[in-house]
Amino acid sequence: MAVSHNPLVEKHRSFLTRQQKMLIGDSWVDAAAGHTLAVLDPSTGQEITRIALADETDIDRAVEAARQAFRDPAWADMKPTARQKLLLQLADLIERHADELAELESIDNGKVAAAARMADLNGTIEFVRYMAGWATKISGETLDVSVPRLPDGKFFAYTKPRPVGVVAAIVPWNFPLMMAIWKVAPALATGCTVVLKPAEQTSLTALRLGELVREAGYPAGVLNVVTGLGAQAGAALVEHPAVDKVTFTGSVETGKLIGKSAVESMKRFTLELGGKSPMIVMPDMPVEQAVQGAANAIFYNQGQVCTAGSRLYIHRSIFDEVTRGIADHAAQLTVGPGHDSATRIGPLVSEEQAQRVCRYVEIGRSEGARVLTGGERLDRPGYYVSPAVLVDVDNRSRVVCEEIFGPVLTAMPFDTEEEAIALANDSRYGLAGSVWTRDLAVAHRMAERVEAGIFWINCHNVLDPNLPFGGVKASGIGRELGKASIDAYLETKSVMMRLA
Ligand code: NAI
Ligand code: MG
Repeated sequence: MAVSHNPLVEKHRSFLTRQQKMLIGDSWVDAAAGHTLAVLDPSTGQEITRIALADETDIDRAVEAARQAFRDPAWADMKPTARQKLLLQLADLIERHADELAELESIDNGKVAAAARMADLNGTIEFVRYMAGWATKISGETLDVSVPRLPDGKFFAYTKPRPVGVVAAIVPWNFPLMMAIWKVAPALATGCTVVLKPAEQTSLTALRLGELVREAGYPAGVLNVVTGLGAQAGAALVEHPAVDKVTFTGSVETGKLIGKSAVESMKRFTLELGGKSPMIVMPDMPVEQAVQGAANAIFYNQGQVCTAGSRLYIHRSIFDEVTRGIADHAAQLTVGPGHDSATRIGPLVSEEQAQRVCRYVEIGRSEGARVLTGGERLDRPGYYVSPAVLVDVDNRSRVVCEEIFGPVLTAMPFDTEEEAIALANDSRYGLAGSVWTRDLAVAHRMAERVEAGIFWINCHNVLDPNLPFGGVKASGIGRELGKASIDAYLETKSVMMRLA
């Protein structure tokens, strides 16, 4: 069946047919050099609009606008209550346009629109409100000091958090709006200014966010949105001397480049990178619950989730039953376009990603993996790959070591708790992990010993605005969400005063 028509594209024709411009200061502008890039609909492969391709000149303008806004008393002297109010207004605007934004996200990324409304948009709205609360709760400390060098002196000391300055926010294509807001909201809560560069595959909701930020009443230049390629616009932004901090979510390879470049100019940086997260199923877990849990952990958002449960370790006593259950479940999932509410697995984000995922399944086969189901490119326009379950693999297999970032599960048996922990930790990554058991002691021993920034017990991929999120090992540096993400946009200034 050829699916070549996306009703959501029709519905949002007025947005899509206009020339997509970039937000720099108070203006919407084309790239100075006039270059543009096609935006393709993952459900059909057809061009739906074009975005501007920024180069160094555009980045320079955007950073300058952010720099000016950072110094402008309208923003620099704004009271915390006013920053809180602006964020609450922004949250209300996003909520008012939530259906539209979810549909744009589906058009751009391919994800199921209903799921985007539920997860991406609700997550975005509540996170902005949560961050609004922090705007009025930023505090330093007063400290008792002795000053050994001056035994007769009396001193008073305090710390005062200051916004870090101009923030470059570079985000990926898997949760475009939510990843942008994880960076933009705490930056605005603390009084920073931002240049946001969305992924070239998925820039539409970031542009719409730019409009809503202006509508909410933010001063010009507090948020700038530039579109373009990573190696060009992204790299220029990271290298720009007037940027104070880079916050990035994406691949380990790009993250390393950004970290090196940032250190060169002493920029602060936060890196949220990839994962190959283990999910451990203990023998006491009911099979049906393990099957459901594992399928959700890997297939949610087409597996394009940095915390996806992509390495499944199952106790040998239930291994065959659980893997067969997941394969049956996967084969039943409806693969289709994101606008169709019956769809459970949408298209992948791009032709490149669909090919990459299929190539990994082939690599798995060539290494001796047995493909229980899926891993096939669907014979129709668009970037559809059926959800796959691979067994007869081990921790040396490339499909187990490397992040595939698609609907591909690798499953392996284990015999003892000790072995499961060792297998889980035998990875360069350390973003997330989960254990499924009814045994409290086992659960807490695993939570203690599995190397991960976030660990779940009897659930997976569950996030909250108040719970810090980030990786250990190759999965990144720093934390987002919670108070941790406020701290990531503040510098501590220490003040000492002589009293006598
Ligand atoms: P990427 O990490 O290269 O791109 C993410 C963002 O960084 C995009 O906005 C891109 O334009 C920008 N970027 C790329 N190169 C840059 C550079 N040199 N300087 C500054 N910014 C740069 O990821 P890509 O190429 O889209 O995907 C490749 C693989 O990375 C995926 O297959 C997946 O395995 C992984 N990935 C992981 C993500 C995560 O959330 N952990 C998100 C996206 C991709
Ligand atoms: Mg890349």
